[in-house]
Amino acid sequence: MDNQKILILDFGGQYNQLIARRVREHNVYCEVKPYDLSLEEIRRFDPIGIIFTGGPNSVYAAGSPHPDPGVFELGLPILGICYGCQLLAQELGGLVTAAQADSAREYGKTRTFFDTGCELFQGLPEESVTWMSHGDYMARVPEGFSLCARSEACPTVGICDEGRGFYGVQFHPEVNHTEYGRQMLRNFLYEICRATGDWTMSDYRREAVESLRAKIGDGKVLLGLSGGVDSSVAAALLSEAVGSQLTCVFVDHGLMRKDEGDQVEAAFANRELNFVRVNAGPRFLEKLAGVTEPERKRKIIGEEFIRVFEAEARKIGRVDYLVQGTIYPDVIESGKGDAAVIKSHHNVGGLPDYVDFKEIVEPLRMLFKDEVRALGRELELPEELVMRQPFPGPGLGIRIIGEVTEEKLAILREADAIFRQEVAKAGLEGSMSQYFAALTNMRSVGVMGDGRSYDYAVALRSVVTSDFMTADWTRIPYEVLDAASNRIVNEVRGVNRVLYDITSKPPATVEFE
Ligand code: XMP
Repeated sequence: MDNQKILILDFGGQYNQLIARRVREHNVYCEVKPYDLSLEEIRRFDPIGIIFTGGPNSVYAAGSPHPDPGVFELGLPILGICYGCQLLAQELGGLVTAAQADSAREYGKTRTFFDTGCELFQGLPEESVTWMSHGDYMARVPEGFSLCARSEACPTVGICDEGRGFYGVQFHPEVNHTEYGRQMLRNFLYEICRATGDWTMSDYRREAVESLRAKIGDGKVLLGLSGGVDSSVAAALLSEAVGSQLTCVFVDHGLMRKDEGDQVEAAFANRELNFVRVNAGPRFLEKLAGVTEPERKRKIIGEEFIRVFEAEARKIGRVDYLVQGTIYPDVIESGKGDAAVIKSHHNVGGLPDYVDFKEIVEPLRMLFKDEVRALGRELELPEELVMRQPFPGPGLGIRIIGEVTEEKLAILREADAIFRQEVAKAGLEGSMSQYFAALTNMRSVGVMGDGRSYDYAVALRSVVTSDFMTADWTRIPYEVLDAASNRIVNEVRGVNRVLYDITSKPPATVEFE
């Protein structure tokens, strides 16, 4: 790749991925690498600048992480953030100590004053709010450095040696709470590192296609397509690169949402690739008959999926490469390099390991989710596919409480489609992380026309979350709930009651099972 690159050395801070995203948002490519990357590897990476991240340690503590000291001799600009700033100070001859007075420890939003003559703060107001989180402070700055930011409690919030291109800030420019953080990073990238902003999705697409062609040659490629964003974008990219050498196997387990199987198929129909849709719904339903226990349902669905996938893979014959939709957050090697753990992420809950392939191809492994979506648009995938909210592998199977039957699936598909339509009509999709209908196994009495009904209750669920580990229920406007509820009870036979789930995670989970 001949893009300009920024190297982010990871000292264990909690916002490291965010730093990388912010850099890329400015159209500059970057990668997060362990802090102990050797000088030779740094040279080989060939960055135009380096960022030291924050971290939980104290730079003066025994065993705290330090970079190769040669990093300061490369003639490259360096921006140190929080711990990274203290590292700069300590390694270059300054003094970092635990803040003596409580007032010099800073957490949270802090009024900060800047020297706007410093290139990092050029063009920004002289006073603004920053986000601090540090207990140590720089008691003496290194020779050659000057102070360029301060707060009321701390005189050494920002330091710089502009001759060498070294900058350090105690606060976190990457978080939204730092009012002008984005602009400061932009200044570092464009004014100090002389970035040109050459990281664009169309370049990425072109280069990825070229390198996939070079790697795959005339080999055969297999991809398990779930219809989710990652596997769909990977399929579109591979399809452009190697056309009919690619086979996409889409296992439609019959637990997809309304029209979803057809949408996935339509999105790939015009491409020159072998698209295999396996309509395995009856086979899944048969296995699920009479099963009510959530974990058993999940196991059955997961296992059946693999069996179907294996059978299709065998029909295709010898496959050289298997594609996985791994994305960057799954890959980042954090903290100490020698203990780096690289997660291997399966979109479909496990792939057969005896498919005879030479290598796993992961064309999205350097992209964040929003970049994967941008690439999907670049590849002209339909917007519904690109913006799909997460959908669990077991599909509607875990949104029907109790036994899964064809009748219940039909009810849920309709109710869920109506809810999503109403959310879209109100223009609320962007404000919710995941929203759907579930079918409870509760039936209750209602009145329809002049008669009594005894039908199912549908539960609507919507959450906002950034990581899906915790989630808050969405305060959907009553009018939207009202419209969805009215339509569901009027249009979906078998439903006479609509409930809205107002529990957060924890203690509830996002899905019902
Ligand atoms: P929970 O219900 O655990 O869901 O709070 C958190 C997120 O994970 C998704 N989810 C799954 N995704 N296979 C998947 O691919 C699964 O078995 C599965 N279970 C839950 C869920 O939709 C939510 O986004």
